[in-house]
Amino acid sequence: MKKIVVLGSLNMDMVVTTERLPVIGETIHGEHIHYMMGGKGANQAVAASRMGISTSLIGSVGNDTFGEKILKNLSEENIDLSTINTEKNTFTGIATVFNTNSDNAIVVIPGANEFCEKHSVDQHIDKIKPADVFLTQLETPMETVEYALKKAKEFGVKTILNPAPFKELPKGVIDHLDYCTPNESEFESMVGRKFDNSDDFEAGMLEWSKQHDVNLIVTRGSLGSSYVENGNVYTVPSMKVDVVDTTGAGDTFNGILAYAIAEGLDLQEAVKMAGKGASLSITAFGAQGGMPTIDTLKKYM
Ligand code: RIB
Repeated sequence: MKKIVVLGSLNMDMVVTTERLPVIGETIHGEHIHYMMGGKGANQAVAASRMGISTSLIGSVGNDTFGEKILKNLSEENIDLSTINTEKNTFTGIATVFNTNSDNAIVVIPGANEFCEKHSVDQHIDKIKPADVFLTQLETPMETVEYALKKAKEFGVKTILNPAPFKELPKGVIDHLDYCTPNESEFESMVGRKFDNSDDFEAGMLEWSKQHDVNLIVTRGSLGSSYVENGNVYTVPSMKVDVVDTTGAGDTFNGILAYAIAEGLDLQEAVKMAGKGASLSITAFGAQGGMPTIDTLKKYM
């Protein structure tokens, strides 16, 4: 059976629904608060696991009720918990998600995610070694991400980095990537400039791809996803759906992309599948709420 290892964050999402964000110094009434499962690492692992592939998640929670709830949820999602450490002297990561009429704004307090260090990678190296795909993001320390990517590459495991939330990428990270999957604004940060229009954006993708031996896939929200292959940019349009909540769409994309790559799909097919999954994910509330199972996704393929 194919295997995926995700290294990343586990958060409790406190989702505050409000018509708009307050400005500094202002107090406003919101509508609801929901406690939802989140964290980019956990979300990506759930998206992959719902495809029916064996999925391990390397990460840390605190020794508290949120941590317990997160572990219970991941166990119900058939995720291998043996690679998740419970840290005694800190709290579980928390994300305050402001869910407004137009879009979301998120503030993350990392807590235990900061304790996912190189030793956690060494501790669970036996899971990375036989994996088909290793997937990570940037809500755990950069040194850990870099170290884990290097190890995965040494074992010949295919590597994917979702550079979110964006931080400057050290050469040691880029050098060990097979796939890099920023969204549009993360890609602008990667190249250090804003794009004027779609042609400029595509030129930026080609330019970056010439300089790096990495498959570049940029997720572009309602426009779909663009990728570079043989010196050309291709865009797979997104599926039209009724949007309920966009939180976790990028995570769904990455989890399903990892599955598709592990299963040997070509780049175009993998991007198509991941894009369809991401579109379906935004039709329900919460980061993990709308993530499709493999059976649901197959109906749309
Ligand atoms: O990508 C969405 C996720 O980002 C949320 O679940 C939140 O926890 C933050 O990590």
